Amino acid sequence: MRRLLCAMLATLLLPAAMPGHAQADTSAQLSPPQGDPGRGRLVFAPCRTCHFTQAEAGHGNGPNLHRIFGKVAGKQPGFEYYSAPLQEAQFVWTPALLYAWLENPMAAIPGTSMMSAGVPDPAQRADLIAYLQQVSVRTAAESVTP
Ligand code: HEC
Repeated sequence: MRRLLCAMLATLLLPAAMPGHAQADTSAQLSPPQGDPGRGRLVFAPCRTCHFTQAEAGHGNGPNLHRIFGKVAGKQPGFEYYSAPLQEAQFVWTPALLYAWLENPMAAIPGTSMMSAGVPDPAQRADLIAYLQQVSVRTAAESVTP
């Protein structure tokens, strides 16, 4: 499963290099294991150094993560530190793709400007995704705890 997700991520990132492969099909439907948003909030703590989840907070050292799922990777206006691979990426962030990437961000997207070791533990990663799904779709008025 893990290898499959990484292979799909590679396929999505290198569409031209794999002409025979169908893209962006199954990955969008695959879901990571169900996690716990409460625990995920703690897993997200190191990410908070660089990322805000509230829209009005804008970008930090990393791009804003408000409503990140459904956005095309590497294209948020106003964020100037996207790496070439993300600038050129043509995939939409889904929970499954983020789950795959965060296992080892620098290995999965060589050249990424995100200096993070990610979250190697699968259960913690699932918790993190659950947290991001919850918090990144709340409106500003609703977000009491950032
Ligand atoms: C040291 C700062 C830093 C930390 C820590 C960090 N990130 Fe990032 N993040 C970045 C940068 C810079 C980018 C842009 C990467 C690129 O263009 O290659 C990024 C990109 C992203 C993106 C893609 C956004 C987009 O618009 O496509 C997501 C999602 C993300 N980070 C999630 C996380 C999560 C979850 C964590 C915690 C496990 C984390 N990041 C930790 C700096 C950071």
